[in-house]
Amino acid sequence: MANKPPRRRRKLPWILGISGAVLIAGGGAAAVGWVTSPVDTVGSVRFEQPLTIPPLADSKIDQNGRRVFELTAQAGTTETLPGQESSSWGFNGDHLGPTLRAERGEQVVVNVHNELDEATTVHWHGMHLPAEMDGGPHQMVDAGQQWSPTWKVDQPAASLWYHPHVHGETREHVNRGLAGMFIIDDPDEPAQQELPHDYGIDDIPVIVQDHSLRGSGELRPGSNFGDTLLVNGDYGPFLDVTTDAVRLRLLNASSARVYNFGFSDDRDFAVVGSDGGLLPAPVERDRVTLSPGERAEIVVELQPGEDVVLRSFEADLGGGLTDRFSGGADRFDVLELRAAADLESAGSAPRALASAPGLVRSGDTTEPDRTFELQGNKINGERMDMNRIDEVVEVDTTEIWEVRNTDGEFHNFHVHDVQFQVVDIDGEPPAAEFAGWKDTVLLKPGSKARLAMRFSDYTDPDHPYMLHCHRLRHEDQGMMAQFVVVKPGQAAGTPPSHGNADARSSHNDH
Ligand code: C2O
Ligand code: CU
Repeated sequence: MANKPPRRRRKLPWILGISGAVLIAGGGAAAVGWVTSPVDTVGSVRFEQPLTIPPLADSKIDQNGRRVFELTAQAGTTETLPGQESSSWGFNGDHLGPTLRAERGEQVVVNVHNELDEATTVHWHGMHLPAEMDGGPHQMVDAGQQWSPTWKVDQPAASLWYHPHVHGETREHVNRGLAGMFIIDDPDEPAQQELPHDYGIDDIPVIVQDHSLRGSGELRPGSNFGDTLLVNGDYGPFLDVTTDAVRLRLLNASSARVYNFGFSDDRDFAVVGSDGGLLPAPVERDRVTLSPGERAEIVVELQPGEDVVLRSFEADLGGGLTDRFSGGADRFDVLELRAAADLESAGSAPRALASAPGLVRSGDTTEPDRTFELQGNKINGERMDMNRIDEVVEVDTTEIWEVRNTDGEFHNFHVHDVQFQVVDIDGEPPAAEFAGWKDTVLLKPGSKARLAMRFSDYTDPDHPYMLHCHRLRHEDQGMMAQFVVVKPGQAAGTPPSHGNADARSSHNDH
């Protein structure tokens, strides 16, 4: 990238198409604007706070050669708006958590300590690991207790994340601040070394959460769509950039909001990675849309001395005039990048990054193995039941799941255990930036996605993995189901019983 002359590319026709749709939605919003006006922080954020880089978590290698992390969930206080403190939760600190980092092939152990006054869990979003280690709603860690999952990291280099998964309370725990990134490295992926990879210098985690802060500055963990963004926990942050290109690992860690990221001058950037790893090749874009839970790694070039703002623009959520009720008409200033007068070379985005998923050929029309209908905060007409295993998957199979959103609002679909390949959305191949490994996919109202995924190991008839909508309120209300991976011919067993978690699932139904 560094050797490419900077330029403003003409927009591709499909981008114009999307902008057109946004304009129409925007016009509609103006017409009914007396209901509530969209949130718009563009131009009003002052960027006075240097961006906090989440520290890399310490680890040690034990006598069995395993990489051991300590992660403590604790309560604290954090500055939200300038001069305003709020109570908050964090891992190993007051708010959010450190970045865990491990290499493919390593056996990791995370000693999770719960110093909160209530039970929580820690789920490794995007990680391929045994269901018992997954940190879903069945792996509750009671107050004062410790839980020590261990697994072998065996998947491509990627930007994953971790967060609680308490049934009925995930939104609250995440909004209080229990979230962090988990970076997987793969020394055998040469592209990783060519991309900017100096953590905190030209390789930057960008964890975006919206909060309802206006007025009190207090984190209100029950909110769905907030009026204020915190980026790595900071309000209005800037980043001093010292290199001619910077890699941003964008993580949408919000409850419900979809971000449509781009830059204040509409410059192009290269999307190099999606949820589960690097893309086959960089994809040049001026926007990238991320629903809750999704990640994108982007590389953006900078000129000496310039400032440019990472923004979230109006988003086409497929609901036309109703998009505005789902935040589609909102705009936010996210992060200001301030380039130094002299920039060092950060390396370039290589043409080839990683191999494509290739589980299924494009144009494949095989009948789906399973179908999931998302409607009314239910999946296939049912709400989550901790004691019911909904799907039984046989190991060593590649399945196609068809997911239909038959609702009037957007949902998104997240599957534990695997990374999947989006085969098509409404019959069309996915946009190139979503053609790599994914674990979460946005489904606009009325749309249908086909996902291909391979179940290769970790059979366990008793401990289920989750599949769910990653709009956290929907998940909490029961838009979630459970599947087990079993040996050929094996039947589903019984999920572990845990009285309070079952009770908890019903009391948060609001
Ligand atoms: Cu990010 Cu089931 O979760
Ligand atoms: Cu949903």
